[in-house]
Amino acid sequence: MITFEHASVTYPGGVQALKDVSLTLEEGEFVVIVGLSGAGKSTLIRAVNGLVPLTSGTCRVGDQVVDPTDKRAIRALRAEVGMIFQTHNLVKRTTVLNNVLMGRLHRTATWRTLLGTYTKEDVEIAMQALERVEIVEKAYVRASNLSGGQQQRVGIARALAQQPKVVLADEPTASLDPPTSHIVMRDLKRICRELNITMLVNLHFLDLARAYADRIVGLRAGELVYDGPGAEADETVFRDIYGRSLTADDVLEKQGTL
Ligand SMILES: Nc1ncnc2c1ncn2[C@@H]1O[C@H](COP(=O)(O)OP(=O)(O)OP(=O)(O)O)[C@@H](O)[C@H]1O
Ligand SMILES: [Mg+2]
Repeated sequence: MITFEHASVTYPGGVQALKDVSLTLEEGEFVVIVGLSGAGKSTLIRAVNGLVPLTSGTCRVGDQVVDPTDKRAIRALRAEVGMIFQTHNLVKRTTVLNNVLMGRLHRTATWRTLLGTYTKEDVEIAMQALERVEIVEKAYVRASNLSGGQQQRVGIARALAQQPKVVLADEPTASLDPPTSHIVMRDLKRICRELNITMLVNLHFLDLARAYADRIVGLRAGELVYDGPGAEADETVFRDIYGRSLTADDVLEKQGTL
């Protein structure tokens, strides 16, 4: 579903954020990327929807090569690729339902977007997405009145309203407490299974990655240093990925206990 072939990214200024990464993700896989801050996790995720151009190599989604210079192709690609953010990125002043409907914009005629009108089908799809994250009773509540965890579930529903083939999530639990982090990861994995969506998720906490990932990809200074089943990623593997021993900061269960 997603293929990187010898993918490298050098940012203007000279930082080499990805170095010759080759990786194939199958349809319906739930893959978690781990690595230290600056390892290139966000860069890898953003390359998939063309937000970051590769300096060399290729990235494919399906059989389509991601080419950020081809605006029409990128627009079509982004309709198929949902994105979930660390900070939810909701419009706080409007309702939950309106936020989820924004996920339909990629598939809506321009004149409808300008008038802010959605079809009955769009509303139906948005409500189904809210149902899937078990928050449909909040549809008419203002987004600002939800808890952080609820807002993140709305963020997931908005991505689902796109009816995507691929979902990218960049640290989706970063602003959540430990129990809520587990709920969000559990939901993402369930949705991945139910809808056979390919998910690529960046996570900071290794225990969370191990608990949910079908497969863990480890990045270290832009290089792919581990690719294997989540359950097999033990402390030795993490030491390889991090280049140091684990600390309490790397483990969700240890947060708030020190
Ligand atoms: N727009 C940019 N311009 C220049 N350098 C960048 C840019 N974005 C990222 N970098 C650099 O590229 C490297 C990889 O960054 P990236 O954001 O992919 O790391 P990350 O693994 O997501 O880190 P974090 O865990 O802190 O989010 C870092 O050294 C970073 O400073
Ligand atoms: Mg990042």
